[in-house]
Order: sequence, then structure tokens, then C-alpha cells
Amino acid sequence: MTNAHTAENSARPHLVTQGSTQQLIVDGEPFLILGGELHNSSASSIDYMKPIWGDMVAMHFNTVLASVYWELVEPNEGRFDFALLDGLIADARRHGLRLVLLWFASWKNGMSSYAPLWVKRDTERFPRMDIRDGRTVEVLSALSEESARADANAYAALMAHIRQVDGHEHTVLMVQVENEVGVLGDSRDRSSAAEAAFAANVPQDLIDYLVTNRTELVPELREAWETAGSATSGSWAQIFGVGDFADECFMAWHYARYVETVTLAGRAQYDIPMYTNAWLGGPPNKPGTYPSGGPLPHLLDVWLAGAPSIDLLAPDNYAEDFAAWCEGFTRRNNTLFIPEMRGGGAGPRNVFYALGQHDALGVSPFAVDSIEDPGTSSLARSYDVLQQISPIILKHRGRDEMIGLLLDEDYPEVTRQLGGYELRISLDQVFGYKAKRGFGLIIAVGPDTFIGVGSGFRVAFLNSGATATGGRAGIGSVDEGEYRGGTWVPGRRLNGDENDQGRRWRFGPDRIRIERCVVYLPA
Ligand code: DGJ
Repeated sequence: MTNAHTAENSARPHLVTQGSTQQLIVDGEPFLILGGELHNSSASSIDYMKPIWGDMVAMHFNTVLASVYWELVEPNEGRFDFALLDGLIADARRHGLRLVLLWFASWKNGMSSYAPLWVKRDTERFPRMDIRDGRTVEVLSALSEESARADANAYAALMAHIRQVDGHEHTVLMVQVENEVGVLGDSRDRSSAAEAAFAANVPQDLIDYLVTNRTELVPELREAWETAGSATSGSWAQIFGVGDFADECFMAWHYARYVETVTLAGRAQYDIPMYTNAWLGGPPNKPGTYPSGGPLPHLLDVWLAGAPSIDLLAPDNYAEDFAAWCEGFTRRNNTLFIPEMRGGGAGPRNVFYALGQHDALGVSPFAVDSIEDPGTSSLARSYDVLQQISPIILKHRGRDEMIGLLLDEDYPEVTRQLGGYELRISLDQVFGYKAKRGFGLIIAVGPDTFIGVGSGFRVAFLNSGATATGGRAGIGSVDEGEYRGGTWVPGRRLNGDENDQGRRWRFGPDRIRIERCVVYLPA
């Protein structure tokens, strides 16, 4: 190995453990992804993209999530075309932006529309899936080794090219392998190959994983296995019970193995972080109404066993119950990264929660190239303050020194322990006015010192050690301010009405604030 090769490898984007989470390291420094994902077809034209880059900068993004399409990368088998990608990388660099690339290949939203025509046409070499009632659908079967090999071959060429053009500059931070895999319209593939595999024994690798991780398994999987008798050999129905759950586990295993084949081939060329994403769903809904077998919380263990080379399993989190899905994707020590979420509505509030409460590696609303008035959008306002405090977030991720908040009229208050204090947090309220929503994050940055960002909430501090006695804690000072070039520049001292006469640390609802609060324990 040459010195140049070694230098390139040690500097490539990679993940390191920090406390209970993983940190993305880019050019030797931790990096928080404040991203946005483009519409699916935007990155298929350099010209189409030209006016969009400026909007991404105006919204304070540091990263754009952009698709790379198998059908355009390998229009003829073995003949690769990376002109589009080269243009994307050049324009991202010109705007000081990084990229996360989305490999739209064998599956996109459960379908196979991004497979090249030479794959689509050849049903013998690249078999399709059958679903109930004997219907063959135009979707690649996850059980085909030949399809996995073809996809892996193209992905390896892609990663080799990225290494060649970006191995030193690191514009490309991560790659998403496939997009929202899973069976739609049925709980599993019923092609003859799939039927035979379903009746055969569950692979020993998965059984070994179950046995080794028995006490740690996600509850749904453990319960299904134990209810079926905790057998250590047998068919899928014998190991996981007859029904939808066994079908989902079966599909999760085969998608995971396929994704693993593709991922390994790419990693062998250029080893940067790789993840795969999920269309959300799960019991009590029927698998097939959402993609059955995707990397979902109830199937996380099957994915961890089947695709160990994937770094992160990521939710496309558009859900009303945003917080619960964040929680689900931190099971089994999975580091949260949200490649898709709402860009308007609750999205610009939810970003704070994901970063503060669940140590997300990054957040990325979808369809950001159609956000109106990008520079003044609510997402831009959220990202403006997040960009200012991202060095502080990065320092405290994974160390139990940060919390995230999402309050509304149904969920108006929460109590959290942080920095040795008990924080009673509620919707902001003063002189008869009450906020309808509160959101933000709070970081314990040092002894008795907190940084908060957000809007519409207030915090009362108690002495954690003496809550039974109603232990008092006092607010010493509150300052609003901003970080300019990483330096705290204080604005007003907030006292009087602005801190409820010293009783509460307040974040008014009119805008997103950054505030610093010092507390004390009366001696
Ligand atoms: C989730 C997919 O991953 C995206 O590519 C896009 O199709 C969105 N859904 C549309 O809401």
C-alpha cells in the first residue's frame, strides 16, 4: 500500500463511536448532516439542477441528498457513464456543499423502475417476484443471486469512480444502498424459488444470531420465536410461527442478504459509510400495505444479522408520531439518521427533536427543491440556528448531555434530568398568553450551564438530588445571543417578564432563539 493510498483512506469519511452513538468524521472533524433530499428526478439533469444549488445554500444546508440511477449509470451492461455524477460533484463543490448519494437500483419504493432496460427485458436472467393469486409483478425477486451480482457490479463501479474523483476532497459523505425495499401487495415473494426457500430451513447464520443475541432481540422477534417454541432448526414457519411475521422475517432476510452483497462490493472499492432506508410500517397493519421485509424496528435484528456491512438503518420519517419512530430506530444501538422527513409543517420543528433527543447523525427533509421562498422558509430558520450550534451538538452527542423537545396542547409538559438538575419543561406561558407549540433542544454544556435553542417553551429547574424535599434551584442569568464563526456573541440579558421574574428560562414563540442559562443551588 502506498503512502498516498494510506493517507486517502485515513481521511475518508467514516464513523467512530462517541458515547452511545456514532459520529460522522469528515476531513478529521465531526460533521452534523443538515441536509435536504431532492425530488427523485432532479439529479438526472445538470441543467435542471443549476438554479437549485443557490437555494440549498440559502436554506443553510451543508449536505444535499441526491439520487444516482442504475439505468443511467449502466445503460448497457458493463458500459458505465458517470458524467452526471461528475457534474453533480463539481456543482456541489462550487457551492460548498457535501453530498449523500442515493443508489436507486434494484428497488425504489419497493419497485424496480430504476433497473436498466437490459435488466428489465431479461426476465429469465433477472427473475421477477410472484405475489398472491399467481400474479407476477415487474419487480426483481430478492432471491436472485444473478440480479444481486449485476447490481453489485454496477455499485462497485460507482464506488470505484467516487474514490477516483473524490477520494481526496470528500464531497461525497455517505451512500444509501437501494431505496425503501420490501414487497408490496403481499407479505412475501411467492415465486417458485421463494416458495422452496420458505419451506427450507432458516439459514444457520440467522439461527446463530438469534441464539447469541437472545436476551437483546427486539421484543416482537423474540416473542415470535419463543411462542413458536424457540427451535434452533426448522422452516421459517416453524421458527417464527405461521403467518405474516414469518413472511416478513423471510423477506427481511433476503433483502438484507441482497443489500449486503451490493454493499460489500461497493465497500471493496471505496469504504465510506453506507445505510439503507425504510418506508415506515408494521403491526397491526398488514405487511404488503407497506413494503414487507424493509429495515423496520420490528425486523431490525434480521437486518443486523443479514446485512452487517450496512452502518445505519434509517427511517423515512413523515409520521404524525415522529417521536415514536425515532425511538424505534434507536433500538439495538442503531444510530439514527433521517434521510427523509417533512420539509414544511412539523418538519422544521422535528429536526430539533431528532438531533437533541436521539442524537441523530443528521436530518434531511425531502423534496427540498420545491420549498417556496427557500431563504425565508421555516426550514431555513431552523437550519440557521442549528448550523450555528452544530459544533456544540457534535461535542455532546451520545453523552446524555442533550435533550430534544416537542410539545403541543396534547403533550404540554415533560420532565427531564440533565446536567445534574431536574428540568420541568412546559409550553411557554406568561400573563394569560400560552404557546400552542414548543420545540427545541437543550444541552448541558458545563457545570450549572445550559445552552438552549427553540421556541414556545419554558423551563423550571429543580435540584435533582433533593426533589423529594421540593429542592430549590435558582436561575442565575439568561442571555440570548448567537454564534458567529463559532464564538458566542451575547445579545439582551433576559430578566423580568422575559424570565418570569427569575422563575423560568423562557423561549418566546415569535422566533427560534439561542439562549444561554446559568443556574445555581442556593447554599
Ligand atoms: C419516499 C421515497 O423514498 C422517496 O423517494 C419519494 O418517493 C417519497 N417517498 C415521496 O413522498
